[in-house]
Amino acid sequence: MSARIIDGKAVAERLRAGLAARVTALPFRPGLRVVRVGDDPASGVYVRNKDKAAAAAGFDSATIQLPAVTTEAELLALVGRLNDDPAVDGILVQLPLPRQIRQDAVIAAIDPAKDVDGFHAVNAGLLATQQPGLVPCTPKGCLHLLREAGASLAGARAVVLGRSQIVGRPMAQLLLAADCTVTIVHSRTRDLPAECRRAEILIAAVGRPEMVRGDWVADGAIVIDVGINRLPDGRLVGDVAFAEAAARAEAITPVPGGVGPMTIACLLENTLEAALRRRG
Ligand code: GUN
Repeated sequence: MSARIIDGKAVAERLRAGLAARVTALPFRPGLRVVRVGDDPASGVYVRNKDKAAAAAGFDSATIQLPAVTTEAELLALVGRLNDDPAVDGILVQLPLPRQIRQDAVIAAIDPAKDVDGFHAVNAGLLATQQPGLVPCTPKGCLHLLREAGASLAGARAVVLGRSQIVGRPMAQLLLAADCTVTIVHSRTRDLPAECRRAEILIAAVGRPEMVRGDWVADGAIVIDVGINRLPDGRLVGDVAFAEAAARAEAITPVPGGVGPMTIACLLENTLEAALRRRG
């Protein structure tokens, strides 16, 4: 069997076009502010892509660049000003932050109604209790891709590899809300390959290049690869050994061009949602 490729780039383009059409019809432009502290080159690319996609879809988007020596108090003061600014609907503080700044303190300071990353404890709690809130962009994008791939979710055995606050845990919550039978597996799980082989839907989100081998994948599984890993030779690979897994899976996301483009599209979706909720 050779797997269908789930084209995240195309799905994200459609999603962004739909959002742009909705934004055009609004009497205001949803406001997004991306805050970047320091000059980590990898996050520079992400931040520029977010800004470009937001502007192209008609959002009022701006990046606020702060020096690497910014103190926690200075960043918290900026977050406070953005919380109070009525033109700002979404605030995203790009992670990771320099060492002198506590990530948790910054996330906790963001108004949950403007927390378009969905990282605030209030939004995590709303997701866990099946109430409307802002859902983290990457798992939300993965769920879109599963639906696009035609996955039957109700009753399906879903395995989430990775338990991060940003992807693994919220992914498990979303799949549970979609009536999957969900297992979270991680670095301390006994016999990871056997656990993954039980999955009809496998979400890999561990950040280890090509960790999931072909014999971890059940025949006919749908595989969503969240990993974006740069190898020493410059190649970009996922958490899944693509060719091996594609020989067994029914459908699989590529890296790049799978989950990555969906994350930005879902950030815009969250910003529009936040704007509509705040402004009625
Ligand atoms: N750094 C890498 N991914 C993300 C993300 O989704 N949100 C934020 N704020 N920072 C990131």
